[in-house]
Amino acid sequence: MRRLVEFHSLNLVGASWPVDGPFDVIFCRNVLMYLEACHRYAVLERLASLFAPDGLLMIDPTEHLGKAGLLFTTVADAVYRPRGASCLPAPPN
Ligand SMILES: C[S@@+](CC[C@H](N)C(=O)[O-])C[C@H]1O[C@@H](n2cnc3c(N)ncnc32)[C@H](O)[C@@H]1O
Repeated sequence: MRRLVEFHSLNLVGASWPVDGPFDVIFCRNVLMYLEACHRYAVLERLASLFAPDGLLMIDPTEHLGKAGLLFTTVADAVYRPRGASCLPAPPN
């Protein structure tokens, strides 16, 4: 399992994200609260474009998606699935 794991640093508000989707699950716990509202929406929109079909976003139960909640459906407490992920444009690199 260890050989399958990679660690990279990523500035969520940076111009480029050196990551390749699609992802079955993205954990973004206790991070959104550190972003300004405009960045939070952009980050969630960008995350939404990286999911595999039926992929899941995990945040903390104390967090909320704000206006970006429109981009996701609620699966369970703090668990969301992007709406029409495959229709969203890929983020610029
Ligand atoms: C409270 S910690 C949460 C760490 C971990 N996700 C958890 O739940 O234990 C907040 C994290 O947000 C990260 N963070 C804040 N702004 C960020 C940004 N612009 N890009 C990437 N990470 C950011 C910080 O580096 C920090 O690791």
